[in-house]
Amino acid sequence: MARSVRGRHEQQSLFTPGFGRRPHRVAGRASEIADLEASVLESPHHPNSTGLILGQRGFGKTVLLNEIEDIASSEGWMVLKVDASSPGVSQRVLAEAAKHPFAQEVLSESRSADATRTSRSVSRGVQLRWASISEQKSETRPGPSVRDTLEVLGSATDERDTGVLLTVDELHAGERDEMVRLAADLQLVVAREELPVAFVGAALPEVFYTMLRDPRLSFFRRCDQYEIGAVSDEEARLFFEQGVNDAGGSITAEARELLVRHAVGYPYKMQLLGHWAWRYADAPFREIDRDAADFAEAQASSIVRDRVHAHIWQNISHEERALVRAVAAHEGEAALWDVSDALPYSPESITDMLARLDAVGALGYDGKSHVRLGPLMDAEFVSDATAALRAMEQRGGAAAQSAASGQPRRSRCNKPMKQVPGRCIRPAGHSGRCRSK
Ligand SMILES: Nc1ncnc2c1ncn2[C@@H]1O[C@H](COP(=O)(O)OP(=O)(O)OP(=O)(O)O)[C@@H](O)[C@H]1O
Ligand SMILES: [Mg+2]
Repeated sequence: MARSVRGRHEQQSLFTPGFGRRPHRVAGRASEIADLEASVLESPHHPNSTGLILGQRGFGKTVLLNEIEDIASSEGWMVLKVDASSPGVSQRVLAEAAKHPFAQEVLSESRSADATRTSRSVSRGVQLRWASISEQKSETRPGPSVRDTLEVLGSATDERDTGVLLTVDELHAGERDEMVRLAADLQLVVAREELPVAFVGAALPEVFYTMLRDPRLSFFRRCDQYEIGAVSDEEARLFFEQGVNDAGGSITAEARELLVRHAVGYPYKMQLLGHWAWRYADAPFREIDRDAADFAEAQASSIVRDRVHAHIWQNISHEERALVRAVAAHEGEAALWDVSDALPYSPESITDMLARLDAVGALGYDGKSHVRLGPLMDAEFVSDATAALRAMEQRGGAAAQSAASGQPRRSRCNKPMKQVPGRCIRPAGHSGRCRSK
């Protein structure tokens, strides 16, 4: 977007440094998009027309979900997109359906008292199905379910040779009961091969250690999994070049290579780096050079630490933090036995912790003998967090002394959270639900 500043015609940066923001151009992901398209959209009658995108925070799950939604829409599919991070998922699916002009036509025609009149868009079979659901609703149920809606819309779109795509973002954050109901509905509609109804979800990989342990959610476990990680340096290089050039700016080869190196293929950081380099250089009026790249690295690292590393750190247990600290103390890669020797935990609990820390991106564990810090943790952050903890412990010592001298101090609830890693931070004996942040 162009705007005028101090008489100059300024081209704003095309970088999009914010969670869930659509990038100007998608870096990499071509094979994931092609695979999703082939298995989900090209064979909607196949029982495997289901996908689950897994990736750490900021690796581009939402972006990938948006890509597949766009492709489906452009091919005439009816796309229903919802986010599970707040309660009311089923209602949102129904509200999404009601927004589509085609669905409005199908549902209103089918609901109309005169179900015998000739339909403009769907066959009588679909109308009658919806009419029967609507009748049942008044006597036994409050309204049509996700299953009813998907069945009717699936039949209607089938007659037009397309289908319905339901996408659910932030699946890991869904309310357990709602997810169980949704899984049961999807199981009945999607897994049956007759209707062209496809499903794609997106979740943090830790979902396998939390929600998806529940056998009632096996529908989601059985989806085809698309694990997304870092993009290649080649793709990152192209991303910086195009992001700068498309907005009318320029970048030196040295600065571009520095940005590629600092990004380590992490899409969220790539956007932050591009954004801050552009701003620091006052692009497009000046070329992005080494100074701008250095400044961008300092800014981007600090933002990633605050928004990503700190979030992970808060949501792991004290024991897990001790394990991360022990790994950070060995620069680079640590042998498992060195780490376990330094900690008072059994090999079994260390192995469990390693698997979970690997899933949240705090550690990278090869499953055998070596462990390293993961893509979302760095030694500097661990050392700062540890120093902050020591300082708090010293203050805590002072508080304990004042408690001993008669001043009350409220303890925390500290119960483990059911659906997300971490513990409750509310005061002990609180009313209502636990919260981890
Ligand atoms: N392939 C990509 N190319 C360019 N930018 C990307 C790509 N993937 C993600 N981004 C950018 O990275 C940031 C994070 O993307 P996104 O919100 O999709 O991540 P996410 O995995 O859904 O994160 P969260 O776990 O927080 O939901 C956004 O600024 C987005 O524009
Ligand atoms: Mg997301």
